[in-house]
Amino acid sequence: MNQNLLQPDSAPRARLLEQRVVDWLAPAFGMTGGHLVPDSTLANLTALWAARDVAGARRVVASAVAHVSIAKSARILGMPLVEVPVDAAQRLRSDLLPADLSDAVVVLTAGTTATGSIDPLDAASTAVWRHVDAAWAGPLRLSSHAAVLDGIEHADSIALSAHKWLYQPKESALVMFADAAKAHESLSFGGSYLGAANIGLLGSHGAAALPLAATLLAWGRAGLAARIDAEMALAGRLADRVRAEPELQLWAEPVAGVVVWRPHAGDAVQVRDRLSDAWVSTAVVDGQTWFRSVAANPLADPDHVVDAVLAALG
Ligand SMILES: Cc1ncc(COP(=O)(O)O)c(C=O)c1O
Repeated sequence: MNQNLLQPDSAPRARLLEQRVVDWLAPAFGMTGGHLVPDSTLANLTALWAARDVAGARRVVASAVAHVSIAKSARILGMPLVEVPVDAAQRLRSDLLPADLSDAVVVLTAGTTATGSIDPLDAASTAVWRHVDAAWAGPLRLSSHAAVLDGIEHADSIALSAHKWLYQPKESALVMFADAAKAHESLSFGGSYLGAANIGLLGSHGAAALPLAATLLAWGRAGLAARIDAEMALAGRLADRVRAEPELQLWAEPVAGVVVWRPHAGDAVQVRDRLSDAWVSTAVVDGQTWFRSVAANPLADPDHVVDAVLAALG
């Protein structure tokens, strides 16, 4: 029926479904609620908007490798962006945070885009608002690897892409808040034609919660955890295999299912371009190009990928 979730009259059940999905997921992260957005770019923008309008944040502080959507959001919101250097593992150096964070929203990344690194999530406790960009690694909180995200429960807001590691079709993501009632009140707009407050960035939108609810109902938390755990094991197997091959180099032990690796010799991009029935993406880390294999495909075969790369080395 192409219902519009902006209008309670036209989509009462779809709105309820979204509420149920958020109610199911938010407590696992220590949050009280939130809402769906099409992607984590918009989740980050919404969260930083709340940080500005609810808590009075006037600048954004994030690591130098935070996702580009943080810089976009800062620009849109008219807030200066302060970049904090990262350590050798691509984690924000908390010892280099500005001393006074009383006017700052600090963004901590849980699963950086290039290497899956996780910032120290207990850092920046004096910030006026702490936002965790958990677009990629957030679902680990539902798995047996939950402890790598310890501290996330102290965030004021969290971004999470369901179309990444919650197996959803695009476009599906969540922004969640520690105090969702307060955040939503601040991000609400009324209008005479609206049957309910319009919360956040979106106007008309569809029922992205439907496939997400179906996934959660079909698999449950245990089913999700089993799939994520299996993919973490696949990432571990890929890392082990790379470490065992003299012609290959592992950037570091993967912490969140992102394996960064490359051939010792030769141009990584040229080798990648020679692959025919296997695929790796590439990422630049510290100015150098690496292969980047992300554990989002339960059917991936690490040995097949490594064999294809070795064959492409010639
Ligand atoms: C850490 C991080 N944050 C935010 C985003 C943006 O997410 P989306 O593609 O859902 O807008 C990404 C995407 O790769 C990401 O890796």
